[in-house]
Amino acid sequence: MKLKQAYIKGIGMYVPKKVLTNHDLEKMVDTSDEWITTRTGIKERHIAAKNETSSTMGAEAAKEAIKNAGLKPKDIDLIITNTITPDMPFPNTSALIANILGIKKAGVFDIEAACSGFIYGLSIAKQYIRTGEYKNILVISSEVLSRVTDWEDRNTCVLFGDAAAAAVVSESSGKSEIISIYLGGDGAYGDLLYLPGGGSLHPATEATVKNRMHYMKMKGNETFKVAVTKMSESALTILEKANIKKSDVDLLIPHQANMRIIKMVQKTLELSDDKVYINLQKYGNTSAATIPVALYEAVQEGRLKRGDNLILVAFGGGFTWASAAIRW
Ligand code: UT7
Repeated sequence: MKLKQAYIKGIGMYVPKKVLTNHDLEKMVDTSDEWITTRTGIKERHIAAKNETSSTMGAEAAKEAIKNAGLKPKDIDLIITNTITPDMPFPNTSALIANILGIKKAGVFDIEAACSGFIYGLSIAKQYIRTGEYKNILVISSEVLSRVTDWEDRNTCVLFGDAAAAAVVSESSGKSEIISIYLGGDGAYGDLLYLPGGGSLHPATEATVKNRMHYMKMKGNETFKVAVTKMSESALTILEKANIKKSDVDLLIPHQANMRIIKMVQKTLELSDDKVYINLQKYGNTSAATIPVALYEAVQEGRLKRGDNLILVAFGGGFTWASAAIRW
């Protein structure tokens, strides 16, 4: 069987209107704009309205991605949504999004790889396109992290935001191609970044609510060190796998968690500032959504053109990590 090439045909994004600035946070917890800016690079983040959820935001992003790809909802064969904040344990968010978009015939499932979710999702879509099983696949990242953020915990509440973005992955007949993807993970680090309550281990009880177990917990400093190591390793691994030299990278889009982590990965790849896309100052860490949101904005701003060598690299809860080499 001759394998086909997969590429990202269209993209879309959606962020909620409400903006929460560092100065707003100064009024909520013992923090300062200066601390958040120097330690993370974040200035503001978007917060979903009461009636917005991962499915409604994901559907908005998906609508734009489908239109941008020159397709109609009926052309979609499969929907993969990456989220750690699904509307509910089930039905899955992809099914809910399909319903909003009026898609009746597509396969629907979610994956959970935290901040690495978009690249994990792309890896699955790529395989289905390569074999010819499906023609057009929606890979959606949608996160409403504000609902699982402990707004009394300054260690975490200054970091996260809400956003969604989507990509249509299709068969390529030209130069554009998802060249190679690398995935990794190590569950031994599970308790450095996690949300303990609400699953089969600690189902919701009065005690889990009282003990704030339905919010994200992070040991920031320890997570930081592993993030730097694994993101740098993943970036180098994908260059080797795809046979791309550091000097041939046109744009790096790293997971947007912390400016200092991004700068260290940039140093590893010996890239100048114009070859690294950063927008975390506007959105904070939106988990699986950071990379596709950045991808969308990089294209809009003309920072990424068809034919460019694009590297994606992510790291998140699990721990999970992943990288991708794409000829955009
Ligand atoms: O997306 C998934 C992966 N996530 C990440 O990669 C995030 C990785 N971690 C980080 O980005 C950083 O570790 C943080 C931004 C979370 C924290 O930065 P840090 O430089 O590692 O600070 P720290 O945790 O070592 O804390 C330093 C100090 C502490 O005070 P003491 O013990 O030195 O007196 C904290 O209590 O900063 C204090 N602190 C704050 N101060 C003001 C912690 N949070 C805040 C805050 N405002 N919001």
